[in-house]
Amino acid sequence: MGTADEDPIPRTIEWCGDRIRLIDQRRLPHELVLVDATTVDELCDYIKVLAVRGAPALGAAGAMGVALAHVTGVPVDTAAAQIVATRPTAVNLAWGVQRALDADDPAAEAERIADDDVVINRALGAAGAEVVAANANVLTHCNAGALACVGYGTALGVIRAAHEQGKRPHVWVDETRPLLQGARLTAWELDRLGIDCTLVIDSMATSLMSAGQVDVVVVGADRVAANGDTANKVGTHGVAVLAHHFGVPFYVAMPLSTVDPDTADGAAIVVEQRDADEVASVGGHAVAAPGVAVDNRAFDVTPAGLVAGWITEAGLFRDPAELLVARRSVTRSR
Ligand code: MRU
Repeated sequence: MGTADEDPIPRTIEWCGDRIRLIDQRRLPHELVLVDATTVDELCDYIKVLAVRGAPALGAAGAMGVALAHVTGVPVDTAAAQIVATRPTAVNLAWGVQRALDADDPAAEAERIADDDVVINRALGAAGAEVVAANANVLTHCNAGALACVGYGTALGVIRAAHEQGKRPHVWVDETRPLLQGARLTAWELDRLGIDCTLVIDSMATSLMSAGQVDVVVVGADRVAANGDTANKVGTHGVAVLAHHFGVPFYVAMPLSTVDPDTADGAAIVVEQRDADEVASVGGHAVAAPGVAVDNRAFDVTPAGLVAGWITEAGLFRDPAELLVARRSVTRSR
């Protein structure tokens, strides 16, 4: 297993025998607080409010939820369906639930998923560091760091590996409206890691790229369809279009478990619609007239053609067909 325990960023989620302990990410960056889910209902609430979030972390949470159902005497199939229904877009949630359901010992399987996550992210970070040149300006959207995983991070894992290689990257951090995962979480992580970063509003990417201030974009993913179309936090598609326009390479970093062979293309990806209030208010204060119509889709889908490559634990893939073969070979080896 990796060395996340000595990490400046503690593991986001842990199985504790009869409960799940997780960082309550709603309280960052102000305080680092651990909370316990002792029932499946509690876990589902924590997932819905994004106390635990990010595709790989949701995979571990899903598996631990099945283990929790087991030890608390809740019908496991009912619990599994309840957990999967909390958030529809990140395929890792259903993947983690299914792995625990298929295992003889769901708790041991959940712990294996958590330990593997850190190892996988270190591997994909090492594989992807080549796309970050010395002193590069890297732009990222949302939070695909240690907090979105069990540890180390995917997109931030790539940046972190480049930093550990002495390349001194600088990161433009999109704030990521409406829930500010970039401002609250990514900037906090980079600060803890001693990686140079600058927080910007989402709409500044155009200005940065037109001024030649972005060398490469690296983001995470919630689900990669069989043809390479990639779902990630809303706003990612716009960044990819801009990157294409300005000739900036756009990379996606994610574990192979985020590739969904059963989803043919982006049109088949279910995009979560969240509460209107997340957009119509900021920090509990209304910023729009009461009752105004709001569309709060939480993700968008970047067409495969805009992606320069997918960075995984099995290496960097530029052809989605080869990525799919790699995903299928992992499934067979389990
Ligand atoms: O709504 P969130 O915060 O769960 O969205 C998270 C993202 O979009 C991440 O970029 C994605 O899950 C990849 S995490 C390594």
